[in-house]
Amino acid sequence: MEEIKLKVSKIEKSFPGVKALDNINFSVQKGTVHVLCGENGAGKSTLMKIINGVYKPDAGTIAIDGQKVEIKNPIQARAHGISMIFQELNYIPEMTVEESLFVGRLPVNKFHKVDWKEIRKRTLELLKAEGLPYSPTTQLKDLSVSDIQMLEILKAISYKSDIIIMDEPTSAITDKEVALLFEKIDKLKKNGASIIYISHKMDEIFKIADEITVLRDGSVIETRNKDDITIDEVIALMVGRELSSEYPKEEVPMGDEILEVRNLTSPGNFEKVSFNLKDGEIVGFAGLMGAGRTEIMRAVFGLDPFTEGEILKRGKPIDSSTVEKSIKNGVVMLSEDRRRFGIIPVRGVRENVSLANLKKFFYRGHLHSRDEAKVIQDICRQMNVKTPTMDTSISSLSGGNQQKVVLAKWMINDPEILIMDEPTRGIDIGAKFEIYKLMTSFVKKKKAIIMVSSELPELIGMCDRIYVMSKGQLMGCLTRDEFSQETIMKMATGVMKKESDNEN
Ligand SMILES: Nc1ncnc2c1ncn2[C@@H]1O[C@H](COP(=O)(O)OP(=O)(O)OP(=O)(O)O)[C@@H](O)[C@H]1O
Ligand SMILES: [Mg+2]
Repeated sequence: MEEIKLKVSKIEKSFPGVKALDNINFSVQKGTVHVLCGENGAGKSTLMKIINGVYKPDAGTIAIDGQKVEIKNPIQARAHGISMIFQELNYIPEMTVEESLFVGRLPVNKFHKVDWKEIRKRTLELLKAEGLPYSPTTQLKDLSVSDIQMLEILKAISYKSDIIIMDEPTSAITDKEVALLFEKIDKLKKNGASIIYISHKMDEIFKIADEITVLRDGSVIETRNKDDITIDEVIALMVGRELSSEYPKEEVPMGDEILEVRNLTSPGNFEKVSFNLKDGEIVGFAGLMGAGRTEIMRAVFGLDPFTEGEILKRGKPIDSSTVEKSIKNGVVMLSEDRRRFGIIPVRGVRENVSLANLKKFFYRGHLHSRDEAKVIQDICRQMNVKTPTMDTSISSLSGGNQQKVVLAKWMINDPEILIMDEPTRGIDIGAKFEIYKLMTSFVKKKKAIIMVSSELPELIGMCDRIYVMSKGQLMGCLTRDEFSQETIMKMATGVMKKESDNEN
């Protein structure tokens, strides 16, 4: 029997320059998973933030168990049994694990003082129950992105709410953690909780959804039972058109070797890693999370040191000891965690793009802001960045659009070698396609890309070669005719190794 847990009616919400939500009607049944999907900027997070009391709607109502409620802030949302996992990991790096778990609900003792003993006790219980290997006093900056996201998930669940909103919860966690999350969702459902789940990953959506609602340009396009809709139909509803192919891969003639990495070693992270890259090439790095791919790229880019090995560009050793030197050498990296390394949230789109490129527009003693504005506007248009103006603060863009701005920033810096770590994380299908096209036109100009990705279809779709890593070691390199998900997985899990693959 169906029982409506949450119902929103006629919700409207505008921001300066955009109508984010237009007459939204949407309801969630008790004990089910309701998936919300739609392109970047469709309004998914905005709707969820209204339900969670972060934003006030311009019009419309929210009812829980048939009762109209007013939710003025997240604390009231919690009191109504609603909790939310946010899309952006907004954390303070110096915060400890226990502080982050209890911020906003610090228990007090009978003297009205924060009960740190209780916090410690409950944190230890949680860490133990979940088998997490760090301590309550570990600072968030010492955790990986996936650890932080997992912590957020556990925190939201620990409120024991009956409505749990998960806004792209799996964007940064490992496959094993995803499985764990899905188990938890199943349990929550059995206990009668309702889950609203936002994701761009179709396989995931179809695994856990009971119902699916598609949003486009701030309107509900359709709600259907999962069994009554196909993946292709969902995609078509999202983008409002059929996509010809998912991967616009073109054969680009291969040129000279542009980068060679020899025996790079950083004890505990990766060991004796050698690979190369040619003009015109897109080279992938596959592996499970924690295989050391990000660590290697950070070392190549000059973010972290290495103890052994060398890096050569066009046959000559280069100094990769700092990021500045790498950028000067034409090597640039797009990081996986845009919050930590990619953007300055309170600044505008234009400023975020130009900061990395000041030199380009600063010549003959002047900042040529007109040139700057034009170049930035062009690249943002090319990438379909949805923003009311170029000076809108970047933190007010939708998650996927923020990612595009980070990408734009590095693209106009005109590097020769672009390292992209999870470049399409959180990006919708239509925009992914745009990014792939940009990658292709980039390598056509005698340049090369290294793409680290956890999405095998994307690596297989776009790369010329794929290096596979397992536990800090290179397990081999595959050429296009050798690509298959199965082979890559076997190598990534350490079951298979491909020797002597010097592809030259
Ligand atoms: N605080 C804000 N100030 C101004 N505009 C905003 C704000 N929050 C969202 N918007 C705008 O509202 C629209 C909807 O954004 P929203 O974040 O809800 O999209 P989304 O569907 O979650 O996208 P994504 O898949 O990229 O996360 C976008 O055009 C966005 O730029
Ligand atoms: Mg969003």
